[in-house]
Amino acid sequence: MSHAITHYDFADKPRAYRELARDLAALLAGERDWIANAANAAALIFSALPDLNWAGFYVPARTAGGARELIVGPFQGRPACVRIPIGDGVCGTAAVRRETIVVPDVNAFDGHIACDSASRSEIVVPLLRTGVSGAAAFVGVLDVDSPRLARFDDADRAGLEALAAIITAASDWPAP
Ligand code: SME
Repeated sequence: MSHAITHYDFADKPRAYRELARDLAALLAGERDWIANAANAAALIFSALPDLNWAGFYVPARTAGGARELIVGPFQGRPACVRIPIGDGVCGTAAVRRETIVVPDVNAFDGHIACDSASRSEIVVPLLRTGVSGAAAFVGVLDVDSPRLARFDDADRAGLEALAAIITAASDWPAP
């Protein structure tokens, strides 16, 4: 399948995110492999949203000693930090809190992990898969970074949470 690159007009953010959600769902349809889907999702988000320097995923892993941590998954942007302890940085904090974290100024976030010194603001959305029992399993985070201060507002939070839900539901994730 080929994917036509569409221009999304973020002057109307809710509409642009709705169009992006529709295109993301179509892009992932028919494939359940999480690496393939996360790779294409990162590419779509990175090419569609203005003013980004990184977009991608961290997923659960274990240290040699058995401690829980995150490991980098598919992404677009400069090479990134590979492993992040649960509870560290914006990604590890979002993993613990299981809620989206918007960081308007990364230098003001205690414990922010600087992978790319160009990053000025950031949003991290946890990927929560609801099982048959109704309990939510944490399967990773979507991390999006910008070189612009305060790049992400409530419309970005709502839009990226909707995209994260599509990616989560479209894929079979490794047992967390
Ligand atoms: N800044 C993130 C680390 C990941 S990179 O930005 C790609 C954090 O503090 O968790």
